[in-house]
Amino acid sequence: MRIRPYLAALGLTLLAACGPVPDKAMKSAVEDIRPVPAPLTTIRSASITLPEDNQTFGDGPDGELLDRSCLACHSASMVLYQPPLNKKQWAATVDKMREAYGAPIEPKDTDAIINALMAKAPARR
Ligand code: HEC
Repeated sequence: MRIRPYLAALGLTLLAACGPVPDKAMKSAVEDIRPVPAPLTTIRSASITLPEDNQTFGDGPDGELLDRSCLACHSASMVLYQPPLNKKQWAATVDKMREAYGAPIEPKDTDAIINALMAKAPARR
């Protein structure tokens, strides 16, 4: 079989185009396409001092029950500073504290906690 010159030229061109590229050339070609991005920001440590909030829910069985059930995660002032909630809304909040956030609230204490919240917090009734 005779090799036609134009086929030989085509073959050589393809070989040159697809053959191994030297490492250095390859590296610079990749860097040209994907330059290393500059960092968006610099991260530094900082410290803040939070205000003290030692408010409790007050004396008596209601206060003690709420202290035991709620103070592990947030202050009494935060709980009592809510907009006036009615009984149904407090019940939903107490359920959320237990189910979503894992508050250590015994199911048998739920009603007493809701009543204690109604007595201590501004209520919508
Ligand atoms: C295990 C931790 C934990 C305990 C215990 C806990 N809470 Fe919360 N509470 C949270 C978290 C977390 C949030 C959400 C805070 C936020 O969104 O910034 C929250 C938010 C709230 C809010 C704001 C309104 C809302 O629905 O998010 C109220 C009111 C509240 N808790 C009441 C209570 C009461 C009342 C108790 C006790 C019966 C209680 N919490 C016990 C973790 C807890």
